[in-house]
Amino acid sequence: MTALLSLRDVTKYFEIKRGVFERRVVKAVDGVSFDVEEGQTVGLVGESGSGKSTLALTVLRLYEPTRGQAIFEGVNLFELKGRELTRVRRKMGIVFQDPYLSLNPVKRVRDIVGLPLKVHMPSLSFEERESMIREMLEQVGLRAADVERFPHEFSGGQRQRIAIARALIVKPKFLILDEPTSALDLSVQAKILNLLLDLQREFGLTYLFITHDMNVIKHISDRINVMYLGKLVESADTEELFERPLHPYTRALLSSVPTLDPRQRGRKKMLLRGDPPDPANPPPGCRFSSRCPLADDLCRREEPPLVQVEPGHWVACHKVGG
Ligand SMILES: Nc1ncnc2c1ncn2[C@@H]1O[C@H](COP(=O)(O)OP(=O)(O)O)[C@@H](O)[C@H]1O
Ligand SMILES: [Mg+2]
Repeated sequence: MTALLSLRDVTKYFEIKRGVFERRVVKAVDGVSFDVEEGQTVGLVGESGSGKSTLALTVLRLYEPTRGQAIFEGVNLFELKGRELTRVRRKMGIVFQDPYLSLNPVKRVRDIVGLPLKVHMPSLSFEERESMIREMLEQVGLRAADVERFPHEFSGGQRQRIAIARALIVKPKFLILDEPTSALDLSVQAKILNLLLDLQREFGLTYLFITHDMNVIKHISDRINVMYLGKLVESADTEELFERPLHPYTRALLSSVPTLDPRQRGRKKMLLRGDPPDPANPPPGCRFSSRCPLADDLCRREEPPLVQVEPGHWVACHKVGG
């Protein structure tokens, strides 16, 4: 298998100036590396505030990276400028969490879904564009006649279908889905997930699927990356991660999910206490140490490196492997 996207040491700090003297640096994403294989769905999971959206927006160059590399089809996205960047961007799309905020309320569906065509394929005629938009709407389960309507005329699930149509209209290879179902009712969630799986098969898409929901990620991902406070703490194939979670944070996330799986029921529950610390002021050593039941002096002093403990199974914890 070949990696479509390789992230190496991807880092994004936000500098926030408060007055003349005070400056806060939020280490939202801090040295994240992982691969996304072509045709796979790679999951990215972690509590709110762990840096998942920032990572997505940095990879797509919607935020300027602080450092690192994002190699897409052999090209480092972080070094591209101007027209080169636009050309590569056509191969990548994103669907955001909130279907109410992500669609321009004063535009018709035709203009929302057709906008990427105007940017990336400006020489198309109105008729060519119109027929592509109508066909794409039907592919995501809407009606061709919906081109005339406005976002407020649709339900949350239908709006997410519009956002998916907009992302796919220029036939990208790679889609980042940032909590695409988190704002939807459970029954609607399942329909959108199934649509995404169908579209993946039909168009041969590669997904980076972001969520805080372990059940969703288990259902959809081939491989899972777990983030905590800007860092990758564990990375493994989905089955391996659910059968043998090694990082105390991953185990805590899995403990919080109700399960019928007997292999997981027998496992000792590990509960997450308190809230994650402020990413502008993370604890020294392991960032999870302030909430970890296993933490000792070493953990509070030295940051654990991400090491491979089994083929394809990586973990950053002083208490695992070695
Ligand atoms: N534009 C921004 N400016 C300053 N801080 C930000 C910005 N965007 C996100 N952050 C901070 O970065 C951290 C990670 O946020 P985010 O990437 O949204 O996490 P997640 O998507 O995992 O919930 C949070 O502490 C958040 O407050
Ligand atoms: Mg987010």
